[in-house]
Amino acid sequence: MRIIRTANFGEMSERAAVLIGAQVVIKPTSVLGLATGSSPVGVYENLVKWYQKGILDFSQITTLNLDEYKGLAPEHDQSYRYFMNTHLFNLVNINKDRTFVPDGLQANTSHACSLYNATVHKYGPVDVQLLGIGVNGHIGFNEPSDHFEKDTFCVPLSESTILANSRFFDREEDVPKEAYTMGIGTIMSAKRVVLIASGTVKAAALKAAVKGPITPQCPASILQLHPDCTVVADEDALALLDQ
Ligand code: F6R
Repeated sequence: MRIIRTANFGEMSERAAVLIGAQVVIKPTSVLGLATGSSPVGVYENLVKWYQKGILDFSQITTLNLDEYKGLAPEHDQSYRYFMNTHLFNLVNINKDRTFVPDGLQANTSHACSLYNATVHKYGPVDVQLLGIGVNGHIGFNEPSDHFEKDTFCVPLSESTILANSRFFDREEDVPKEAYTMGIGTIMSAKRVVLIASGTVKAAALKAAVKGPITPQCPASILQLHPDCTVVADEDALALLDQ
C-alpha cells in the first residue's frame, strides 16, 4: 500500500484525479471503476476541468460503478446513477451506453445481481478503481461482516451508514435500507486501486484499513493484500497513523 499524504480535500482530489486522468491518457479504452458520495466530488471536478481544457478524452472509456441504492430510480436525485450523470457523465464526452451502475429498480435481487455480475465480467477487469471509505470501514457497500463477499450482492445497510448518508436526504427514514454493491472479490480484481479519504471523521476507519488486522469487520483492510493500492488522504484522515 502506497500512501500519498495531502494537506486538504482540494489537494487530495487533485492528486487522485491525476492518477485517474493518467490512466485515461495512457489507455483511452480504459475501464474505470467509480465511486459516489462526497469524497470523489472534487476528483470528478478536476476530470471535468481537464476534459474542458482538451487534456482528457472519455469517448472510448467504459465505467463500472460500485453500487446503487435498491429502490431508487435513475432519475431520483439521491440515486448513484443521478450522481454520476450530474458530476461526470453529462459533463464529458463519454458514451453513456458504456457507463454502468447496478439497476436500483430491479426488485428481483438475484436477477439484479446476476445482471450486474454479467456486465462486470463482460467489460472488466477494471483498470483503476476509485474508492471512498465509510466511517465503519466499508468499501462500496460492503459493510462490516463475518465474511468477505465475492460478487455483486444485495446488502442491508448498517445503522451507521444510514446515519452517515442521511445528510443527503430530507429525513433519515428516507434513506434506503438496502443497496446493490460489487463484492470484495470484484473490487480486488481491479488492476489498480485508488482509495481516497478526507477529514477526521475517516481517521479511525483509515487506520484500521491500513494498519489493522485484515478482517471483514473492516472491509477496507483487505486492500492491504492488493498488489497495487494507493491511498490518497489528507492530514486529518491520516491523523491516527504514524507519520
Ligand atoms: C459510494 C461508496 C461508498 C462511499 C463511502 C464514503 O459509491 O462506494 O463506499 O465511498 O460511503 O462516502 P463519503 O465519500 O460520502 O464519505
